[in-house]
Amino acid sequence: MADYVPTKLKSKSGVEVVIRSATKQDADAILELSRGVIGEEIYQLTSGSEFRMTIEAEEKWIESHLTNPNHIILVAELNSKIVGLLDFANGHRQRVSHTGEFGMSVEKSVREKGFGSLLLQALIDWAAKNEKIEKIGLSVHNNNERAIGLYKKMGFEVEGVRKRDLKYGDGQYVDTVVMGRFV
Ligand SMILES: CC(C)(COP(=O)(O)OP(=O)(O)OC[C@H]1O[C@@H](n2cnc3c(N)ncnc32)[C@H](O)[C@@H]1OP(=O)(O)O)[C@@H](O)C(=O)NCCC(=O)NCCS
Repeated sequence: MADYVPTKLKSKSGVEVVIRSATKQDADAILELSRGVIGEEIYQLTSGSEFRMTIEAEEKWIESHLTNPNHIILVAELNSKIVGLLDFANGHRQRVSHTGEFGMSVEKSVREKGFGSLLLQALIDWAAKNEKIEKIGLSVHNNNERAIGLYKKMGFEVEGVRKRDLKYGDGQYVDTVVMGRFV
């Protein structure tokens, strides 16, 4: 069971948030957060028209992370409202099971307050204690300067670039930057 005990932390902006693992009861709030971020139509692989997640599917997704010791979904809660989300899963084949990738998002109205940093630090701390996970990886759109800046600040290094990997609705091509950090 992958779990992160609820921990109250102060962000760089001085605001306190609770970082904890998601539970099935969070499905609705997580869905709303994801819908909002995907609806911005930038920096995510999934476009708004493709996002058809239901509460039932969301609950199953949360449950599957809770029951797998090498997967975790972390949420940042501000005044009892979920404003940040990070999900990590290790590779399911033996040779990549020591590594995994994460995705994360923070609600637009509360970005730049330090919540993303707290979520990512919580993942790094959790991974450091996990017996299997040795490396955390990620993919990020190369126009996402804020996210790349955050990842570099947290010790991630650029390992490669997949050129013209993404094509936005307006025809614009964007490279994917692959980053990683050993724990
Ligand atoms: C990326 C995201 C999760 C960061 O969350 P956040 O709560 O805003 O992050 P924080 O406030 O903790 O940290 C922001 C960090 O970004 C970096 N940053 C901010 N603006 C930057 C810029 N213009 N250029 C480079 N780095 C920048 C800094 O390192 C900053 O930390 P610092 O102020 O301590 O130096 C959030 O912006 C988000 O949800 N974006 C939309 C979805 C998304 O892009 N998800 C990631 C997909 S890979």
